[in-house]
Amino acid sequence: MQDADKKNRDEIFKAFRNHVSSGKADFFQSVGIEFVFGRRQGAYVWDAASDKKLINCHCNGGVFNLGHRNPAIIEKLKQSMDEFDMGNHHLVSENRAILAQRLAELNPGDITYTVFGVSGGEAIDLAIKLARGYTQKNRVISAKGGYHGHTGLALATGDEQYRTPFGVNPPGFEQIPFNDKEALSNALDSDTAAVIFETIPATLGMPIPEDDFFSYAKQACKDHGALMIIDEVQTGLGRTGRMWGIEHFDVVPDIMVIGKGLSGGMYPMTATCFGPELQDFFHNNPFIHISTFGGAEVACPAAMEVLDISSSPEFLQNVQDMAEVFRNGFKVLKEKHPTILKGLRQIGLMMGIEMVNENCGLVMSKTLYDNGLLSVYANNNPCVSQLLPPLIIDKPLADDILERVDKGLGDAKQFLGL
Ligand SMILES: Cc1ncc(COP(=O)(O)O)c(C=O)c1O
Repeated sequence: MQDADKKNRDEIFKAFRNHVSSGKADFFQSVGIEFVFGRRQGAYVWDAASDKKLINCHCNGGVFNLGHRNPAIIEKLKQSMDEFDMGNHHLVSENRAILAQRLAELNPGDITYTVFGVSGGEAIDLAIKLARGYTQKNRVISAKGGYHGHTGLALATGDEQYRTPFGVNPPGFEQIPFNDKEALSNALDSDTAAVIFETIPATLGMPIPEDDFFSYAKQACKDHGALMIIDEVQTGLGRTGRMWGIEHFDVVPDIMVIGKGLSGGMYPMTATCFGPELQDFFHNNPFIHISTFGGAEVACPAAMEVLDISSSPEFLQNVQDMAEVFRNGFKVLKEKHPTILKGLRQIGLMMGIEMVNENCGLVMSKTLYDNGLLSVYANNNPCVSQLLPPLIIDKPLADDILERVDKGLGDAKQFLGL
């Protein structure tokens, strides 16, 4: 990058501080992460004000599964922009019909209907509305430390720290420990509309559930006339080496929510998917839920491309192969850094670096940043750093990431005196 092209960091920080968020500007300056998201391509993002380059292992939780500015997605979007716009959210739409049909082919079991949205929170809200509308029950059970979004009902399923400042939580929401069958059994009752879990809770630090947890949960829901909602916002679209994370657990949810990566990193698109029985509820109330921008027609061809790429056997095989590289790499790192590294929580490229104490996450975000990796710690378990590389990485890049994690662990160890 030529010096003349580089933006002035101080000016950007000043405008951001004065007009977007003074708290964020202060925080990032205080921890020495004065990065301004600049040029981006594939697995990389550059600082707008210097030559600093990072490998993106945050990926906004999966938005950049296919890398930044994936050429195939851009091409589809460009073509689409010559022809389409938002469309009309009340009328029949060919683009939405074709995209929903493709999802029906790819979704587990008989999840053949989709309502599109623009954010994960909105899609979760709808899942809960549908569960309540269909069952005519009220209670919703979710996992402590889980995260489903910052909107109304999604927020109500989440942790206190995010909702307490905003007043009284709506009634009927209860949190139980994740992966705890007994707690789930005790919480379910005849007024439970839904149980909602992420397949692997990212904000909780990627705890991997027992093999039979979700089949148990599904049966327990069935026994109580409740529905099981699975949040695949982060684990969907190939992240785990299968198209949907829940496929690893051999169970078909009643409602499945997809977000983030469905956008191709270019145009917001989320989906609340369910089977024909639940769609009966909307059959009788077809205008009861509305999203003006949900399923924007212009974005549908790009989302279709995302589905085609993400479901291809070669693509999923690459995720599994790269997962193996990390699995083996972390065995070596564990031997080398036993005082800080406990291990890798992993299914496919859904990965969390588990460390020895709660100070490690924040320090690792900084030492990884200093070593050229963008990664954040799990907010509801700061012992864990999330490691979410794009799914298009190859072996040399995976090795490069491992080398940087090695250095980051070494620096964090030194800083923390471990
Ligand atoms: C698992 C999960 N569900 C839902 C959401 C909410 O998505 P959005 O931020 O698009 O509303 C997120 C966002 O991080 C998420 O990680």
